[in-house]
Amino acid sequence: MYTQTIPAVPLADFANDIRAGLKTSGQKELPSKYLYDEVGSALFEVICVLPEYGLTRADQRLLRRHAQDVVSHFQGPVIVTELGSGSGRKTRWVLEALCRRQATSYYPIEISQSALARCVQELGQLSALSIVGVERPYLDGLLEVAARRRVREHLLVLFLGSTIGNFDREPAVNFLKEIRRILHPGDGLLLGTDLEKPIRDLILAYDDPLGVTAAFNLNLLGRINRELDGTFDLSAFEHVARYESAHRRIEMHLRSRMKQEVSIPKANLEVDFEEGETIWTESCHKYNLEEVVQMAKASGFGCAAQWLDGEWLFAENLLIAE
Ligand code: AVI
Repeated sequence: MYTQTIPAVPLADFANDIRAGLKTSGQKELPSKYLYDEVGSALFEVICVLPEYGLTRADQRLLRRHAQDVVSHFQGPVIVTELGSGSGRKTRWVLEALCRRQATSYYPIEISQSALARCVQELGQLSALSIVGVERPYLDGLLEVAARRRVREHLLVLFLGSTIGNFDREPAVNFLKEIRRILHPGDGLLLGTDLEKPIRDLILAYDDPLGVTAAFNLNLLGRINRELDGTFDLSAFEHVARYESAHRRIEMHLRSRMKQEVSIPKANLEVDFEEGETIWTESCHKYNLEEVVQMAKASGFGCAAQWLDGEWLFAENLLIAE
């Protein structure tokens, strides 16, 4: 096993994004990617094993069951890269299926240093696998990986766990187009998508009775306090998860329990909150199977296969660049 890491995103970008999201007269908003610092990534790992959050287990079941089918769509050498690898646990099946046939290079792309470290630890024991962690935003990382591919090597991009659902619908298609632009015909994108299901199940999945998702959401304010010297009182905000049927998505917000003022010196920012005002922190879009085929088509892919989990409405979609 060989591991190496390519380094991180500057604090100034975090400060700029926080300023842009909070210094507005309209809906305050923070990018969901900032939920994943060391604490947030650890809390997300717990979310993934909560009984109410079936998404990750469905993703894992499908990958375990169909890894060989995925790999059989590619002839010749394949290098694997993953956008937002997390712990890398569910990637193991696809990598093992490839390693049985050839020595394989795996490039997990992650902005969370701690998640990247866990991923390297989790998969580092696989023989015939070399791992190069890429600590970069997704598309920068993908460009970097694509530049390293050799002639005749196919690239298989993994975008699992329905992270695509954290993009709004139009940006999601634009993002798939960006990925397609970097790929060659015949390259693959394995895309995990959480599907529409009863609203009650969705609310429970994003507002679990233990309060782990609430802690995950509130940690974003904790992170601003830790990294930008913010003065957020976490007990003065509450987690909200609501289903917006017009957009077929769960929205996560942090609602101010009172009128208050917060300062964030390292972002050069003073922010006022009205009682009941929210910061919108994440959207989690839900799909249907035909819609995913259409999204693939609109972004230059053909949908070669869709595998559906029997316990939780979730699909693994194998898209091939045309
Ligand atoms: C990472 N992403 C796919 C998760 C989701 O379900 O949208 C993030 C998450 N947020 C709260 N719970 C899980």
